[in-house]
Amino acid sequence: MKLSYDIASRPSARRQGKYGVDAPYVPAIYGAAGTALLAWGVIALALGIPAAAPWAFSYGCLALMAAGLYMYATRRGKFVVWDKLLDDLALRGDESILDLGCGRGAVLLTAARRLPEGRAHGVDLWRSQDQSGNDPAVTERNAQAEGVADRIELHTADMTRLPFEDGTFDAVVSSLAIHNISDSAGRTTAIEEAVRVLRPGGRLVIADIRNTRRYHADLQRLGLHSITRRGVGARMWWTGPWMPTTVVSGTKPT
Ligand SMILES: C[S@@+](CC[C@H](N)C(=O)[O-])C[C@H]1O[C@@H](n2cnc3c(N)ncnc32)[C@H](O)[C@@H]1O
Repeated sequence: MKLSYDIASRPSARRQGKYGVDAPYVPAIYGAAGTALLAWGVIALALGIPAAAPWAFSYGCLALMAAGLYMYATRRGKFVVWDKLLDDLALRGDESILDLGCGRGAVLLTAARRLPEGRAHGVDLWRSQDQSGNDPAVTERNAQAEGVADRIELHTADMTRLPFEDGTFDAVVSSLAIHNISDSAGRTTAIEEAVRVLRPGGRLVIADIRNTRRYHADLQRLGLHSITRRGVGARMWWTGPWMPTTVVSGTKPT
């Protein structure tokens, strides 16, 4: 039986929490570079060196556009995309879900909204270079604001060493987090851990900006089936089409 889920209260449409900015130094650099270039264009015109102005204005506008796309993806686009990805899981509402690198709860709490009788667990190391204001107390506050505080559990842990038994979760999700592990062996270990804690028949869904071919190969090696790898479009372009988000998913065999 599918439990009730009020589609009119989609989290992407009515968010109450504050979810910060992913890797906040990135839009800051683009914004500062764009502003400096536009200012240099104006100064070049004032100093009578018009040849410098066109490229300064062009690159300045491009940098500001990149900053704007980034902010759209982090503040709005990823919520819309994850609404759809979670819809695709066709949850009954009583499952147990794990979010790897949950941060301030963008995906964790979007999932919790769909689990009136279930539980959403978030694992994180709360690194502020990866998300502004990253702190479990902020995620707790967001959970209260979204009205799902009684459905979530936060764990301070490394996703390469998950503190859960094998086969614990009905689904494991991860958004823009695994690429933050700097070495390839560590990212592979994170995938292996995700599969280990997934119950047979459970679904793993990973959205990331890099390394997704490797995640796909890892899922094949680990014997998952119904594996897919696809782009999610302009809503999650980080600075432009050269940095799209790709989603890899697969089902653990029963
Ligand atoms: C860009 S943020 C994304 C947060 C959240 N998934 C979202 O989409 O809003 C990446 C998150 O991964 C976390 N993280 C990075 N390395 C980690 C690790 N080895 N184990 C657990 N979490 C990690 C960071 O602390 C951060 O919260």
